Amino acid sequence: MGDILNPAQDHVAAPIVPLRPLGKVLAVTSGKGGVGKTFVSANLAAALAKRGHRVLVLDADLGLANLDVVLNLYPKVTLHDVFTGKAKLEEAIVRAPGGFSVLLAGSGMVEYSRLTPEVRDDFLRIMSGLIPHYDIVLLDTGAGISDVVLFAVSLASEVLVVATPEPTSLTDAYATIKVLVGQQKRQNIRMVINQTARLGDGRAITTQLQQVLDRFVVTEPGRPIRLIHLGDIPSDPSVRQAVMRRQLLMQSTPGCPAAMAISQLAVKLEDTVINQKV
Ligand SMILES: Nc1ncnc2c1ncn2[C@@H]1O[C@H](COP(=O)(O)OP(=O)(O)O)[C@@H](O)[C@H]1O
Ligand SMILES: [Mg+2]
Repeated sequence: MGDILNPAQDHVAAPIVPLRPLGKVLAVTSGKGGVGKTFVSANLAAALAKRGHRVLVLDADLGLANLDVVLNLYPKVTLHDVFTGKAKLEEAIVRAPGGFSVLLAGSGMVEYSRLTPEVRDDFLRIMSGLIPHYDIVLLDTGAGISDVVLFAVSLASEVLVVATPEPTSLTDAYATIKVLVGQQKRQNIRMVINQTARLGDGRAITTQLQQVLDRFVVTEPGRPIRLIHLGDIPSDPSVRQAVMRRQLLMQSTPGCPAAMAISQLAVKLEDTVINQKV
């Protein structure tokens, strides 16, 4: 795979923010768009909520926020109103059909797709107010390595990269991981391979990516990068059907292969992230 993976350019350092001790925050991110971040965030949240956890999903894909569309919610108050001081944080938190909480960005957030000191401060303030109230906060971030995406990811204690088996998705995932390692000094990166065709595809892909990283990305001595393969989600026609009906897959067809895969991811996350001490 090495020949298709070009080294990403170096980027300016992302801020290191002191949120990690406050609680578990998982950034769901990707190199390429449209790979299933929002689908995974929403359905994973439902699966975790079903297992008794207090879960919040924050729509952190500020420029292209669409968690509201997926969940069929029309909030009166959004993150935008909280940022502008028109509403209190509590008023912007809505209950999603899957039994978890959501903080929706709303279309007014487009102006926040540029990272300014104000956006950073607002985000930090909001996150530190939220984190202590939940067992886990999922950040449904944008794709790629823009400042605002990297900033959202920098707020998280854990990172989950979603990729599909397509070569373009994998090269972009590689570029994202490289930046996260270089800028944020991330060591452990969890991987979910979505839309797989065969059993075992995701593990093989993760192993290949790991080999390319080991070969081409220089890290500090004793701090190797570790890709943790959390699981695969098969390509499943029920996913598109659920999105079209604007329902959660975990509710519309909980027994379908993709929903069962998400339930397994939830168990793994519970064991490896939620139940671990901060
Ligand atoms: N496992 C899957 N099987 C089939 N289709 C999928 C699967 N995962 C995602 N999709 C399709 O991909 C689309 C884009 O997913 P989305 O979560 O919006 O991506 P992102 O948030 O990464 O941009 C979904 O609307 C759905 O139609
Ligand atoms: Mg999305």
